[in-house]
Amino acid sequence: MEIVWSAVDLEPVYGGVCVPTMGALHEGHLALIRRARDEADLHAQSLPVVVTIFVNPTQFAPGEDFSRYPRTFDADCEKCEQAGADVVFAPEVGEVYPNGPEAPIDPHIIIPAVAREPGLEERSRPQFFIGVCRVVHRLFELVRPSAAVFGEKDYQQLLTIRAMVAEMGLPVTIYSEPTVRDEDGLALSSRNVYLAPPQRKRALGLSKALKAARSATSVTEAESAMRSILLANQVEIDYAVVREAHTLMPIESMAFGARALVAGRVGAVRLIDNMAV
Ligand code: PAF
Repeated sequence: MEIVWSAVDLEPVYGGVCVPTMGALHEGHLALIRRARDEADLHAQSLPVVVTIFVNPTQFAPGEDFSRYPRTFDADCEKCEQAGADVVFAPEVGEVYPNGPEAPIDPHIIIPAVAREPGLEERSRPQFFIGVCRVVHRLFELVRPSAAVFGEKDYQQLLTIRAMVAEMGLPVTIYSEPTVRDEDGLALSSRNVYLAPPQRKRALGLSKALKAARSATSVTEAESAMRSILLANQVEIDYAVVREAHTLMPIESMAFGARALVAGRVGAVRLIDNMAV
């Protein structure tokens, strides 16, 4: 496996399968890389798998955890190699943002409705999807992949990227992988390292709430069950909702394809999770 620091060295891997990450890799990321490997190997001449590691400043608001976001580059590279990556691309900020991260977003980049309208992540983190669309668009420009893999753990992000790619007509197929969970149900996240043991126990409230939503028969019942479980686990609720699975807009009944989504704080740590219901 090769580590590439500058986009000028990416030409040999154009057309590959890309897994964009911010590093601090865990089993959830490795599932994405293995999926990328499998998709790449379906081609008669296996395509290269390119993992990008870049902690993207534009998706963090001032005061969020950008400066203390876990950075574990050497361990990440070993994991990438074991999971089947051919290249790790680790650009500097100046390569991703030649005019600086403070420069305004290229007006051609489409921020789709699913990133602006549901009142979920974008309500608490108004800068988040603008930063995500901006960086993913730029990484695609540099890596020029034919396909890319994202996790369902960040479900609104996954739908946002799918919609951006479709609406901008970018020639990249988007694959997704289910959330990977610890045995007790906690969704893997790079931010779980911030949780002290008693907080980790409280964080289980998110997956317990989602499981309860799955056995509810109406949206109201599901949402009220989720809120009770989150409160019982001392999770400060941001949202606990059942939404249409593609637009993430409110729905009246638990139609096939609905998605339950939760977000909340355990102490200072903000966590999100979701499940099909
Ligand atoms: O999900 C992430 O790790 C990031 O939001 C992404 C997609 C790599 C963009 O920085």
